Amino acid sequence: MFKKLAIGAAFALALTPAATLAAGGGEQHIEDFAFSFEGPFGTYDRNQLQRGLQIYTEVCSACHGLKYVPLRTLSDEGGPQIPADQVRAYAAENFEVFDAELDDYRPATPVDHFPANDAAGAPDLTMMAKARAGFHGPYGLGMNQLFKGMGGAEYIASLLTGYTGEEKEEAGAILYENTAFPGGWISMAPPLFDEQVEFADGHPNTMHHMAQDVSAFLMWAAEPKMMARKQAGFVGVLFLTILSVLLYLTNKRIWAPIKGKKVG
Ligand code: HEC
Repeated sequence: MFKKLAIGAAFALALTPAATLAAGGGEQHIEDFAFSFEGPFGTYDRNQLQRGLQIYTEVCSACHGLKYVPLRTLSDEGGPQIPADQVRAYAAENFEVFDAELDDYRPATPVDHFPANDAAGAPDLTMMAKARAGFHGPYGLGMNQLFKGMGGAEYIASLLTGYTGEEKEEAGAILYENTAFPGGWISMAPPLFDEQVEFADGHPNTMHHMAQDVSAFLMWAAEPKMMARKQAGFVGVLFLTILSVLLYLTNKRIWAPIKGKKVG
């Protein structure tokens, strides 16, 4: 009886998210981009993060803020690793922040954060790569996320490349059809075009490449310590494995004199 109940409850739990998703309407199409930071040992690609930063600065920052990311972290180990003097120049050149002491705007310095930007009604992008999931199911089981990862970066890259070119006007706002956006219509105009950003090293700058680069950068913005986390996880698993073996052997030795004996 209890077993049946438990199985029933497990099924109900497993099926609910799938049912809610289906009710949400709009079949999402998420492309499984190959990112360097996937898997238990994946790491960020420094050059890709630098290209992503350039795309964010030249394109996305016009509408989107990154207000929780301190500019100085651009030179951190595991990130874009831009030398400190270049970060200083980059901050001063590209951003202005409001200084309460001066009661005026001044050029940004590495101790400031990227500015907030909600002028266009666009969401802050700091946590976006963690706030969205590209993969779901099947049937709410989460198997796709186990094998492919959560897919936050894939979602952003698919969003940037998912425009069909269709537009419609609704309540005075223009909406653009997008195959990755839930519901299928987004109010962000297609932000990326082929050859929009020129890279110093001549790296390919098709829309597809740039979408992947800026998504990798946003993944770093959302989780700058991902590599440290994976390393700590690996050490933890290794430690627990050794501990388990030792405990097994200890247990055997402790019970050895008793286990061999006949009872009674
Ligand atoms: C012209 C202004 C503008 C530019 C430039 C722009 N965006 Fe947006 N973006 C928006 C607006 C407005 C929204 C909110 C759309 C909505 O909810 O319908 C948005 C939403 C988003 C979302 C959230 C989608 C979701 O699931 O809620 C992401 C991710 C995003 N933009 C990424 C980018 C990236 C990356 C770039 C640079 C390549 C960029 N945007 C450039 C205006 C802009």
